[in-house]
Amino acid sequence: MKGLILAGGEGTRLRPITYTSAKQLVPVANKPILFYGLEAMANAGVQDVGIVIGATGDEVRAAVGTGEQWGMHVTYLPQEAPLGLAHCVLIAQDFLGDDDFVMYLGDNLLEGGLSDLVSSFAHRPAEVAATILLTKVPDPQRFGVAELDNRGEVVRLVEKPEVPPSDLALMGVYLFDKRIHGAVRAIRPSARGELEITDAIQWLVDNGERVQSLIHDGWWIDTGKLTPLLEANRLILETLDRRIDGTVDAASRIEGRVVIEQGATVTRSVVRGPAVIGAGTEVVDSYIGPFSAVAEQCRIVDSEVEHAVLLRDSQVIGIRRVIDSLIGKRSIVQKSDLLPQAVRLMLGDDSQLDLP
Ligand code: G1P
Repeated sequence: MKGLILAGGEGTRLRPITYTSAKQLVPVANKPILFYGLEAMANAGVQDVGIVIGATGDEVRAAVGTGEQWGMHVTYLPQEAPLGLAHCVLIAQDFLGDDDFVMYLGDNLLEGGLSDLVSSFAHRPAEVAATILLTKVPDPQRFGVAELDNRGEVVRLVEKPEVPPSDLALMGVYLFDKRIHGAVRAIRPSARGELEITDAIQWLVDNGERVQSLIHDGWWIDTGKLTPLLEANRLILETLDRRIDGTVDAASRIEGRVVIEQGATVTRSVVRGPAVIGAGTEVVDSYIGPFSAVAEQCRIVDSEVEHAVLLRDSQVIGIRRVIDSLIGKRSIVQKSDLLPQAVRLMLGDDSQLDLP
């Protein structure tokens, strides 16, 4: 079984962060989102993984490397433009050959991993050409939606239907055998100009192949926007074990599920978990509240931060309190005594500020 991870999307809904960074590399609990998918593949025994990359390909290559750290071998598959999920399968054909594969969207996170799914596909009846993972959602119009028969097999799939046939959304995790290659060659671009994997799977059904489904009942998050990203950060932080490798002075208090990485220093401060403080980060005279993930080499001085993700080398100085925030690399948020007392900004395009 091979793996195909899609990491080519542009991440427009996470701008300005994604002007300079791949959305799949934004950290959740201080680890790039994409790494959770790679770990899930490795845990499911998938060792040969293709990653479809786009404009941010160099950054993805630099972060993931050969895949050795997950005991896998990674092949990079450049996609010249985001032309759809089925287009990714099309360009991956040489890499995939005739092997079965699991396809996974690189900005998604799901509870429970891929092992059960991968082993159920390995033991499927020969007539089954694909297995899709579904989950109940309150807003099926935003997804690919499945209609099932009473055995749980797919009768019909529709991409972003105005009138959804069910509340079962395609989660962006798919298992295929080689029959999918004929399907992705046969379909035409959708109204949004993309080759839809949903249409390719429908083509399989229309051509007499069986497509099975599994209903996922854990959490699943498509992290492409701020609110779900913070939610994913919350869920992952809750799973961490307390570990204090950095330096905490006697005047500080560390409460609950907190990770303080090597080389981080906490001085006259309170850190209340779940929270993670990255290597080399300095926290001075500050409060770091629940659901905060502060990356490496940050400085938080005389401030309060809660329910926030700070990327590396950022600083928060003299601010009470920063909440519900995503702060990009090397950003500085600080109190200033300059007169006149006013807000002074140097913001990237598409930034958002909510001032009290
Ligand atoms: C894609 C798929 C859709 C699926 C969704 C899951 O949509 O086309 O069927 O439900 O991923 O995140 P997109 O994110 O490209 O709009």
